[in-house]
Amino acid sequence: MEATDAGRVLAGLNPSQREAATAVRGPVCILAGAGTGKTRTITHRIAQQVVSGVAEPGQILAVTFTDKAAAELRARLQALGLPAPVRAATFHAAAWAQLRWFWPRLDAGPLPEVAPSKLRLLAPLARRAGVSPQDLAAEIEWAKARRLTPETYADAAGDRAAPLPSGRMAAVYADYEQAKTAAGQIDYEDMLLRMTAAVTDHPDVAAEVRDRYRFFTVDEFQDVNPAQFALLRAWLGDRDEVCVVGDDDQTIYSFTGATAAYLQRVRAALPRGATGDADAQLPLHARGARARQRGVVDQASRAPQASDRHARQRAGTGVPRVRR
Ligand SMILES: Nc1ncnc2c1ncn2[C@@H]1O[C@H](COP(=O)(O)OP(=O)(O)OP(=O)(O)O)[C@@H](O)[C@H]1O
Ligand SMILES: [Mg+2]
Repeated sequence: MEATDAGRVLAGLNPSQREAATAVRGPVCILAGAGTGKTRTITHRIAQQVVSGVAEPGQILAVTFTDKAAAELRARLQALGLPAPVRAATFHAAAWAQLRWFWPRLDAGPLPEVAPSKLRLLAPLARRAGVSPQDLAAEIEWAKARRLTPETYADAAGDRAAPLPSGRMAAVYADYEQAKTAAGQIDYEDMLLRMTAAVTDHPDVAAEVRDRYRFFTVDEFQDVNPAQFALLRAWLGDRDEVCVVGDDDQTIYSFTGATAAYLQRVRAALPRGATGDADAQLPLHARGARARQRGVVDQASRAPQASDRHARQRAGTGVPRVRR
């Protein structure tokens, strides 16, 4: 691309946004409040990765959490006029597309279909247990988002207000998994869990997916759950080309400081339970904490509709705009 493209990409960013957008290598953590231009910054950072020659558009994967947010990311990336499209998708859509592609190599029988809902499979189990299928579905989703299996559920559930006592709930969870497999189906959480396992257990899958995608960006990172975080870790392998963007809404209430609160949230996103790989999650955490190239979008760019609460609290608490 032309050298002048770099200027075009960075025009329209304020200094803090520009600092973040030009930090095109290594782990980058962007923290800012609602409407401060976080998504604008990461789309421009992605464009900057391309125009600076660091990344090919096809090597970049931008992920978020809802179809609407993914569509918006795509539209905003497209508006930047990159020479080729950058893939922007939800974690689930990205995982499912990859899983379909790699499925024949996993030696796992025919490609499953996606269960439109858990309720059909849960209905008979719920009747027998005398509880609502919706409550069972919510509890199973809670467990799977945390990478808990029917075997590890009971220990981790503790005193949770679950629809059933933990032992019985674990049994229903196991029955559900069995019924789903028998029906040749997977659910939404399985897309994440199965793709993570595919990368972890199949070196050829890991090599191919990591060769394809080399630069990762996660918008709305505060919403990441352990299953999604594990997939991100699997995609990265031992690399650190990742930019996470979080809303620091909660951190501005923090007494101990924004960075500590943010890192706690990252820690909270780490898989727990019996997987034994919590340590394996630490490098990203640690690299994120050490990252020198962190920027945060300052409030000069706040959209007019953004709440003044942020401005007042920032002015009052002196939350640093760029944390190093
Ligand atoms: N430097 C800027 N110059 C002009 N407009 C800007 C700038 N930064 C942000 N905006 C505008 O402010 C609005 C909010 O930006 P954006 O959606 O990127 O913020 P966000 O922090 O991602 O918001 P949300 O919290 O809703 O995710 C958008 O209309 C965006 O174009
Ligand atoms: Mg945004």
